[in-house]
Amino acid sequence: MDRHRSRSPTTSSHHHYSPNRRGGDNRRRNHCDGAQFRPSNHHLHQSSSTPRQTPPRSQTLSTRREVYERDFPLYKQPVEVGCFSLDSQRRFFNDSRQMRYYVEPERSPSFDLRDGYRERYVKRDENVKEKLDHILRWIVANRSKLKSKLTTNASCPLDFDFVTWRGHLTKLLTTPYETREGWLLAVTRFNGTLYISEVETEAACRERENRPERNKEMMYWGYKFEQYMCADSTNSTPDPSGVVNTNEAFCTVVQTRLTDHKLLFSGEVDCRDRDPGAPPPPACYMELKTSAEICTPKQRSNFHRFKLLKWWAQSFLPGVPRVVAGFRDHDGTVVSVETFQISKISQVIKNEYNCWKPTVCMNFCCDFLSFVKREATEDNPSVVYLFSWEPHNDVTYSVHRDSRYSFLPDWYIKEITRSPE
Ligand code: A3P
Ligand code: MG
Repeated sequence: MDRHRSRSPTTSSHHHYSPNRRGGDNRRRNHCDGAQFRPSNHHLHQSSSTPRQTPPRSQTLSTRREVYERDFPLYKQPVEVGCFSLDSQRRFFNDSRQMRYYVEPERSPSFDLRDGYRERYVKRDENVKEKLDHILRWIVANRSKLKSKLTTNASCPLDFDFVTWRGHLTKLLTTPYETREGWLLAVTRFNGTLYISEVETEAACRERENRPERNKEMMYWGYKFEQYMCADSTNSTPDPSGVVNTNEAFCTVVQTRLTDHKLLFSGEVDCRDRDPGAPPPPACYMELKTSAEICTPKQRSNFHRFKLLKWWAQSFLPGVPRVVAGFRDHDGTVVSVETFQISKISQVIKNEYNCWKPTVCMNFCCDFLSFVKREATEDNPSVVYLFSWEPHNDVTYSVHRDSRYSFLPDWYIKEITRSPE
C-alpha cells in the first residue's frame, strides 16, 4: 500500500477535491486572509490610530460554513499502526480477538431488530467515563513501535501532534453543519503532544438520563443489526440467538496527517471483509448502520443531509471504504440492505440544494487543530484547555489547573516520562 498518498473525499488519488464553481471566489479570499479567526471581543482589535501590523490573534474560532469553503486540505491515506480489543467486561487486550467478519445477507432479509432486547442485552455502563484510557494503554503497550525514526530521546516519545478518539474528530468534522448539539473537548499538552478527550455536556447528560424508552430500544437495534450481519470467524455464520453485549469492541489505531497535523487516533470497527484476499486494513473494514426506510422525497433529502454527513465523516477519517446500511420499518424489521461507498457519497448528495460539503468539514477540523496548537501552549499534564462550542456560536475555551477535567492518568504520565529502555 502506498503510505504517503493524500486523500480526497471522492478518490484515493493525489488529486484534491475540487469544489463546485459557486464557492470559488469566496474560497480564495478566505484562504488568504485567515478570516476564520474572528475576535470575540472588540478590545482585541488594534486601535485604528496605530499602524496596522499583523492582525491580532483571536481567542475564538468561527464555525460558519462559508469560512471553510476552500480547496480540500491534504489528508494522508490513514495507515493502521495497530489495534486492540475490549471484551465482554470491557477489559483491554492488545490484539484483534474481538474482530468480526461480514457475512452478506439477502437484499430483503426481514431481520427482527427487537429480538432479545429484554432478555439478551448487556449494555455498557455509560456512567463510566473511560476518557482516552484504552488508547493510552495501547500507546504504552506499543511504545517501541511508535518511536520516531528521528527522535529517540525520552523528552519526545511520541511523534504525533494529536492523540484522540475518531469519534471526537467526527464531531469536529460535522460541527459547521450541526444545529442541535454542542460539545466540550478537553485538551492537555504533554511532552509536546496534544491529547483531546471529550467531556459530556450538561445537556447531553440530561438527555442520556431522561432517554425515552423507545430511544433506548432503538439504540439496541443498531447493535442487533451488527449481530445479524457478523460472524466471529472467517468460516462461521452469524448467531442471532446470542447475547448482544455492547462492552465488546474491536478498535483500529491509525496514523495520518491533516495538512501539518500529525494524528494518532482510534475508532471502533464493526467488521471486516472475510475474503482472505481482501486488501489490508483499513481498506477491508466495513461500517454497519441502520436507518429508517425511505418512503418520500423529503425523507430521502433528510437522509442525504443528515445521516450521510455523519456516516461519511465517521468512515472517511480512518479510511474505511464502505458502509452497509440496513433500512428498517417502524417496528424494527430490516426491509432492505444497501452498500454505500464512502468515495461516492459526495456524488450521491450532489443534487441536494445547499447540502454539506466534505471540504468544509475537513477545513474546519484542520483550523480547529491549528487553533488548539496555538492556544494550548503550557506543557503540563494537569492543565486542561477546555474548548467549548454551542450551535450558532464560535468555539471558545477556558483554562483549568488540577481540576475535575484533568484526564491523563498518573500511570500514563509515569510511563511516558520514564527513560526508554
Ligand atoms: P446505528 O447507527 O446503525 O443505528 P456505530 O454505528 O457507530 O458502530 O454504533 C453502533 C450503534 O450504537 C448505532 O447503530 C446505535 O444503535 C448506537 N449508537 C451509537 N451512537 C449513538 C448515539 N449517539 N445515540 C444513540 N445511539 C447510538
Ligand atoms: Mg456501526
